Amino acid sequence: MVAASGLAPPRAAAVCPRTRCFPRTSFLRFAPPVAPPPPQLRCCSSTVDDGVVSAETSKPRLPRVVGMGSKLVGCGSAVPTLSVSNDDLSKIVETSDDWIAARTGIRNRRVLSGDETLRGLSVQAAQRALEMAQVKPEDVDLVLLCTSTPDDLFGGAAQVSTEVGCRKAVGFDITAACSGFIIGLITATRYIKGGGLQNVLVIGADALSKFVDWTDRGTCILFGDAAGAVLVQACSADEDGLLGFCIQSDGNGQKHLNARTLNDDSILSKTNGVPGFPPRKATYSCIEMNGKEVFRFAVRCVPQSIEKALEEAGLPASSIDWLLLHQANQRIIDAAASRLDIPSDKVISNLANYGNTSAASIPLALDEAVRSGKVKTGHIIAMSGFGAGLTWGSAIVKWG
Ligand code: ACO
Repeated sequence: MVAASGLAPPRAAAVCPRTRCFPRTSFLRFAPPVAPPPPQLRCCSSTVDDGVVSAETSKPRLPRVVGMGSKLVGCGSAVPTLSVSNDDLSKIVETSDDWIAARTGIRNRRVLSGDETLRGLSVQAAQRALEMAQVKPEDVDLVLLCTSTPDDLFGGAAQVSTEVGCRKAVGFDITAACSGFIIGLITATRYIKGGGLQNVLVIGADALSKFVDWTDRGTCILFGDAAGAVLVQACSADEDGLLGFCIQSDGNGQKHLNARTLNDDSILSKTNGVPGFPPRKATYSCIEMNGKEVFRFAVRCVPQSIEKALEEAGLPASSIDWLLLHQANQRIIDAAASRLDIPSDKVISNLANYGNTSAASIPLALDEAVRSGKVKTGHIIAMSGFGAGLTWGSAIVKWG
């Protein structure tokens, strides 16, 4: 939990017994509904230079406003330069373009190489989102970096925020694998509604290529690296662009998809009479996945989750202009569209070019769809993410 000055940390919300989702209204109770804004509400922006920490009192934050709306006003994305085709993979594992394309819909993926970093991609995606939104970096209040693969174990949001020039922003990471972007997006809207923030950058970025076993044909064909970002901005309640949402998790499913910490046995623990101390240095395993179970989970839970979010929005599936799912497998996307009775020309898909880019996949596909003119101002998009944890969630959003 982040408790930076001026930000109201969300209180635990009660799960709705009917939909088993967090109801929107429960998040509206972050800040006491009748408490007047503190007259001297101030936040501190601190800089660290040569080991010296200086804290400077910034301008007062806006008073906390409960019941305000939030809208998506800009997006951007960035991908690595190296493109790896199915044919390239068939040179390192026993597979074929036909098998991969038929089972997944994927034909190419981008992989970090040379001096490219996840931070670099995240910065580019964020800059492009700010440019589209016509918002200056210094006007950003909060940077959420949704990633499971930061360049630094302790997270990357603060560095991305600094590099983009978001001088007054607080940055922190959200780890929820392929659901990370949806959870970040919903978190951003809660900080705007409950915390009175104006501009929140939500970045979904992952480099799963670093945790893939490139000798395992069951997993290495699936993943790619990328970053995507959106700028979420405060607006009046009647312009609200988050119409409904639903987020869920089930730790029992962790056994089907994970990259666990491993103790490095090469470094012998000196017990000195204390068993297991000092601890051994930990590393991570490669991604371990039971593809069939994850497939079953996604096909079952994603349509249910979208239906719950639609129910909360008070909208029928027929009102959806675009269905935008986490880009994991074309067969999962098709199954969800068919269950929701959404025609294929309303389905956004770009996984043929990028594979499964985890937390980046939704904002990456959104960015392409917006820039190509498919998604227009006022269009309603049903977004859904799902993945390790297991976690999954949906958001019904209006673009612009
Ligand atoms: N090329 C050729 N053959 C292969 C390959 C490959 N790349 N991979 C597996 N096979 C073989 C298997 O060995 C098996 O052979 P066998 O019948 O002789 O034993 C056969 O193909 C079928 O294998 P399955 O694993 O049953 O194939 P399936 O149809 O389930 O497809 C896949 C596998 C594509 C991984 C699918 O299960 C899937 O997409 N699952 C969902 C994954 C997902 O969505 N992950 C998202 C979350 S990621 C995250 O959160 C980080």
